[in-house]
Order: sequence, then structure tokens, then C-alpha cells
Amino acid sequence: MSDNASKKLFIKTYGCQMNVYDSQRIADVLRPLGYQTTDAADDADMMILNTCHIREKATEKVFSDLGRLKKHKDKAKVNGKRAIIGVAGCVAQAEGDVITTRAPYVDMVFGPQTYHTLAEMVVRLQGGNETRIINTDFPAEAKFDLLPDDRQTDAATAFVSVQEGCDKFCTFCVVPYTRGAEYSRPVQSILDEITRLIETGGIKEITLLGQNVNAYHGLGPDGAVWSLARLMAALQDINGLERIRYTTSHPRDMDDDLIAAHRDLSKVMPFLHLPVQSGSDAILKAMNRKHTAAEYVDIIARLRTARPDIALSSDFIIGFPGETETDFESTLALVRQVGFSSAFSFKYSPRPGTPAAAMAPMLPEKIKAARLQELQNVLFQQQNDFNVAHMGQVMPVLFERVRREDGALHGRTPYNQGINVPGNPRLIGHIEAVRVTQAHTNSMWGEIVVQ
Ligand code: 5AD
Ligand code: SF4
Repeated sequence: MSDNASKKLFIKTYGCQMNVYDSQRIADVLRPLGYQTTDAADDADMMILNTCHIREKATEKVFSDLGRLKKHKDKAKVNGKRAIIGVAGCVAQAEGDVITTRAPYVDMVFGPQTYHTLAEMVVRLQGGNETRIINTDFPAEAKFDLLPDDRQTDAATAFVSVQEGCDKFCTFCVVPYTRGAEYSRPVQSILDEITRLIETGGIKEITLLGQNVNAYHGLGPDGAVWSLARLMAALQDINGLERIRYTTSHPRDMDDDLIAAHRDLSKVMPFLHLPVQSGSDAILKAMNRKHTAAEYVDIIARLRTARPDIALSSDFIIGFPGETETDFESTLALVRQVGFSSAFSFKYSPRPGTPAAAMAPMLPEKIKAARLQELQNVLFQQQNDFNVAHMGQVMPVLFERVRREDGALHGRTPYNQGINVPGNPRLIGHIEAVRVTQAHTNSMWGEIVVQ
């Protein structure tokens, strides 16, 4: 074995599940160079921050974490070792120059569409002729073809990226600029990846990922363009795969065939994350969401007809420029009308280069904070009610991991509720019948039902 074999790779992931997937693939790309992942940054040979640019807070966190990594790098240097610092993801894509100015000790800056060439970047860096490598090219096409076939997983569930980028251009959002134009992977390469995950990794649940996953339109093996519904119908037939989820979706792409898939495909879980952002038509228009509140409510009604027990989740932005008290009331009204099992809500954060950043009037922080609190009170109450409604019920739970705190198993119900259950670790990767014994807003407990 070469001395490469003992190198340690630390990756910290910020933001969305797409980044979680990318981080796993970054580790896959670097494994042939001898890098093994570690949870500790302080003695790593390579430290990568896989960053998120969606809101200002996430971006600022990157710079404070970089300061910490610099200390590890300096310490390594004292010990005669060159530790490499890389910044990946959407901040790298959007603010490559800012990073190299603010943190000149960063060795590599690479965007979400270029990490398949990471091995080459590392070799170039180690060659010594270049002090820093910046690679923020588009597009995504080449990446999936060039990533290694083997994925290392030791879990019951896996993310599989099927679609990247976004052409929707919501006025608040950086994604169309950082992730580029919409691109769908060909069907066969997705099926191959999933089949391998199931056969070699024992994976039971697949979450299909994309910034606009329900806009999926990939080239099928038959030469036709396949929709997400058609792709999931093919997954339904894969032996060993038990659960299918997908995220994140846009209301505009919630077609009839996708709604029908929630009725017809038993492996598609009764849960959908469908961001609405606001319940006010004026704000939805200013956000360029391309649908009204009533259209969203109608989609939900059709989903519930197809799958009456479907649990719904959403994203909300509070304090978008120009949001009035009446606009905000409309958001609360939509939330009350739909009823969500979980949700994410954020204060509007102006992002450089997006149209909304130049819109007026910006709302004072105090109003944003007060509205967010009011919205979250309603959303948390709904989440609590949803969980409490399952008290005493028996649900199939897929066990994902052992909890560090107390050794209990952690798993998920079909409705995507996390639940803790005392049990034998060999049940990881299995689906068992579990009776809910405790239900709270953010946690649930249960016991395995002996049949
Ligand atoms: N400010 C606040 N929230 C945002 N999101 C995206 N851009 C912004 C922004 N500029 C939220 C949206 C999106 C989620 C991933 O992040 O709700 O659905
Ligand atoms: Fe951003 Fe809108 Fe595209 Fe979602 S649909 S990634 S919010 S631009």
C-alpha cells in the first residue's frame, strides 16, 4: 500500500440534502487517492466545507468555520504536514473570489458541478506548481457520468440525486445562479446506482433528490422522456427496495401522474414536502412562484383524494419585501386551511444578485421576527397535533441508526416522523411494527410490537 492509504478527510456539510449527497460523492471520489473520512477536523489531511448560500446566516457560518480550520492547518504545518482546505458547494460557486480574498489560506474552491474532477485538482495541488485551484465551471452533464460507480454507505436509507439546477427563478433564490440550469440524469444511470445501493449496501429506502425534483424529465432506456412518476413506477418493481421518497418539489410541477403515483405506488411514502413560501397572491406574484394560493390548496386537495392519509410539509418565507399584515394573515390562513405535519420557516434574507434584493420596502427585522414567531407557533402546534394523533397507533418503522445519547434505535414512520424505540441494533435496516407510546412536537417514542 502507498503512504496515501492513511490520509484523513474531514467534510462538513451545510444546507440541503443535495449537499449531503454531494459530500458522500466527494468522499467516493477521494477514496481512490487514499482518503478515509473522519469526524475530527484537527488531524485531517484534507478539510472540506460543503457550503450553502441560500440564506446569509449559512454563508457567514462558513467564514467563521474557515477561521477554525486555518488553525488546524497552521498546526499541521508546524508538524511538517501540508493540510489542504477546500471550499465546495454553493458559496464556492457564488463567491469564489470573496473566499480567496477573505480566506487566502484556502487551497481549493470548487462548485457543485465540478467535484468529479477533484482527484485531478488534488494531484495538481500536490504537484506543487499551483498554490490554489479554483474550479467553478458549469454544467452538470458530465459529472454523473464521471463519478465512480461505487458508493460507500452503511445506512438503511440513501439519497440519490436525479435532477439538479433550477429554471424557475423565484426572485428571492440563489439556486438558479449557483446550481445552474435544470438538468435530469438519464434513467438508466439512476436505476444502476439504486440497484447497486440495494444489492451491495442493503439500502431499504431511497430519497430521490433535486432542487426541482418533480420537474424531472430524464431520457429513458426506450428513448422516451420519463417523468418522475414513471421513474418511481420503475423503482416500485425493484426487489429489496421498500420505500421511495422525493424532495424538493415545486407546486407547478405537481402533475396528475405524480399525484396518481401517491395512490398507485405502494412504496411511495405518504409524505410530501411541497414548499408554498407564502399564502398571499400578491407576494407569490412578487416571488415569481407562478401559482396562486388557491392553486396550491387545490393541489393539496387532489393529493388528499389520491392518498387520504398523506402528510404535508412546506417551506415559508416571512417578511418578503412589501409583505403587509394582510399578506401575512393570508399565509396564516393557508397554514390553517391545509394543516402541515412539519414545516420550515425562514425570515427573508436578501441574497446578492437576486431580483428581490432590490425590491422595496424591506421589512424591519423586528416585524420579521414577530411574524416568524407567530407563524411558527401555529406550525409547531400543527406538528404536535399530528404526532399526538398517532398515540397508541402501530406503524411500520424503518430503523436507521442507534442513538448516541441512550442506545435506542432511531427510525422513521411512513409519514417521515422520527421515532425512538428501544431495541437490538441488529434491527438497523429493518422495518418493524412499532406502537407509539409518547408523542411530542419534536420527538416520538415507541415500542416494537411482538407479533
Ligand atoms: N431568504 C429566506 N429564505 C429563503 N429560502 C430560499 N431563499 C431564501 C431567502 N433569500 C428558503 C425557501 C426555500 C428554502 C430551501 O429556503 O423557503 O424553499
Ligand atoms: Fe429556488 Fe424557486 Fe428554484 Fe426552488 S423553485 S430552487 S426556491 S428558484
